[in-house]
Amino acid sequence: GKIVPAAITIFGAKGDLTKRKLIPALYNLYTDKHLPPVFTIYCVDFLEEDEAAFKQDLLAGVNEFSRNGKANDEEWNEFAKNIVYLQGDFVKAETYTGLKARLDAFEKKQKQNAIRIFYFAVAPRFIEIIAEALSKHNVCNRDELDRIVVEKPFGTDLDTAKKLNRFLGKRFSEKQIYRIDHYLGKEAVQNIMAFRFANYVFEPLWNKQYIDHIQISVAEEVGVGKRGGYYDGSGALRDMIQNHLLQLLCIIAMEPPKFYKSELIRDAKVKVLKSIRPFMPAQVLKSVIRGQYTAGNVHGTPRVPYRKEEHVLSTSNTETFVAAKLFIDNERWKGVPFFLRTGKSMPVQSSVIVVQFKDSPHKIFKDDLTPNRLIISIQPELEISLLFESKVPGLKMKLKPVEMDFTYQESYTETIPEAYEALLLDVLDGNTTLFMRADQVEAAWKVVMPILDTWKKYPAKELHLYKAGTWGPTAATALLKPYAKDWFRLSAREESIK
Ligand code: BG6
Repeated sequence: GKIVPAAITIFGAKGDLTKRKLIPALYNLYTDKHLPPVFTIYCVDFLEEDEAAFKQDLLAGVNEFSRNGKANDEEWNEFAKNIVYLQGDFVKAETYTGLKARLDAFEKKQKQNAIRIFYFAVAPRFIEIIAEALSKHNVCNRDELDRIVVEKPFGTDLDTAKKLNRFLGKRFSEKQIYRIDHYLGKEAVQNIMAFRFANYVFEPLWNKQYIDHIQISVAEEVGVGKRGGYYDGSGALRDMIQNHLLQLLCIIAMEPPKFYKSELIRDAKVKVLKSIRPFMPAQVLKSVIRGQYTAGNVHGTPRVPYRKEEHVLSTSNTETFVAAKLFIDNERWKGVPFFLRTGKSMPVQSSVIVVQFKDSPHKIFKDDLTPNRLIISIQPELEISLLFESKVPGLKMKLKPVEMDFTYQESYTETIPEAYEALLLDVLDGNTTLFMRADQVEAAWKVVMPILDTWKKYPAKELHLYKAGTWGPTAATALLKPYAKDWFRLSAREESIK
């Protein structure tokens, strides 16, 4: 179709997200020629800034965080010409009237309407303030062209999420609202849909009859770092499970949609969330394990206890680790446990999904001991492998499990875009497939509410401490019984094959 100019406004231009993710992603989209030929990026934040210094800082961010490493000077300068720093207080009307004047002038100069994107890279308390102002001052009111992008946390519980949805819903249409869950933009996560629904070979096995259990694990090496102020009021359940891990679960467990179309896909995902068996309050402390890291070593670097991290209460009971067992009550999954785990200050970064198949009902080999496993590794390695038994070469009939491996390195020469590149391009294209619809967010909150409520009631009960640099509390391993001895580890696949 017609190429439309883009005006991208980032609220929270001085924040971490802008520097680490948004600008590097926009820069890569630019160098790969995915941005429209005419675009502008308005960077709005509270402080007075020298524009050149501001851009220099953004460049440092690109150099440090972009998948391509250091930027090319010439290309950066061309790109950076389109960046404008606008000093503005989010609570003042003049910020928005000033912005509107800029946007109108930009469109006038192009003699054409532009796509306007407003990215909320701000603390949650500003979301409603900015949304209200954008709407009131008619900065973002064209259904087809104007879009807002909202980062998590999207509410802090079901009530606040509903309230926020209602608030935004009164000012913008649902199709103008892009709620980001950046896990959905990851290359290996997007591939799960292709893997499941373009390969009929696995689909007949993808159910309770053949699958024993599923593990979804997102282990992080990082601690809370400088984010204690946010994290201590949030915790791993809100920060990771409510969004990223439940979304991975949805993609693994969903029914095939009729077409690869946004609303149909999102419908199918919501259905999964609504079919999750609600946690009974009395069961929560048994089927959801929470942990918090204490002092330890991660890769030989000492790490302070969570309670001594910056901006964290010294008496904090906030969880930095969660492992949960849940069931999906539908025909496909009845009785199949899904184990979810996430934690900070773990030995390595590793996001893996393991689908473990059932044992054959009748064995003819006595050393046929290893169940078949499908291992989907999302990061840092991107690969899918299938574990199966094979005859060890030799004169005896002896079995040993081996793997069929698909790795991106071996199969593709294409570069792997960052999640934020894929998602920002989707916003520009008006494609909502990988974004969270209002009902998705609410359904996900509904799943975790009984856990939050129970923890609130018993703030310190069964809070398991684990040493930084370990795989978390032993209670989380015990949770897997009798389905598995331990959580699958890509870094120790040989060992965990046994
Ligand atoms: C964010 C969480 O949403 O995801 C962080 O707030 C977490 O706490 C991050 O570290 C993990 O994302 P990624 O892409 O590094 O796996």
